[in-house]
Amino acid sequence: MKKNIILIGFMGVGKGTTARAYAKKYKCFNIDTDDLIESKANQKIKDIFNEYGEKYFRSLEQECANWIEKSVDKTLISCGGGFYHVDNLKKLGTVVLLDASYEWIFNRLSTAKNAKAKLKKRPLFSEPKKAKRLYKERERAYKKVADIVINVEGKEMKEILKSIHKHTKNSFKNMDNNL
Ligand code: S3P
Repeated sequence: MKKNIILIGFMGVGKGTTARAYAKKYKCFNIDTDDLIESKANQKIKDIFNEYGEKYFRSLEQECANWIEKSVDKTLISCGGGFYHVDNLKKLGTVVLLDASYEWIFNRLSTAKNAKAKLKKRPLFSEPKKAKRLYKERERAYKKVADIVINVEGKEMKEILKSIHKHTKNSFKNMDNNL
């Protein structure tokens, strides 16, 4: 069994921020599936969506998951909101869902300092009504694939990091082996 932590959850729930804070606190490497895809395609996610469509983007996510399965261990991996659908997710490590209500997520995104940029880079968040529908569609599926569900709504980062660590430390100890 791989010793990665796989952070999943809806767009804007704070996977990237949480992953960076976790990596800093527990001194591990952190990679992000959207960053991996952008670096390989040499293109921004929104441009991949615009030019080739969502289906093609999903195939890049699967390719990324296959690479992780083959090549990555003892690493914290934050995933794009739709990455949960890859067919080998459970083989990649312990799946941790960051969970919150749609309203909380929408509020977090739209009141962020760089709210415009945050919304613009997410093609599936361009229309709040559609995003809410997507949230409803995925809500149950996220919980189904998750090994651990952490409610982040209104929680301090310190608390969130502690919960992740508490639940994953057995499978994710000796993180310094990375170094
Ligand atoms: C998507 C979420 C995005 C990105 C792409 C598709 C989704 O990542 O992968 O725009 O399907 O939910 P974030 O969850 O980091 O915004």
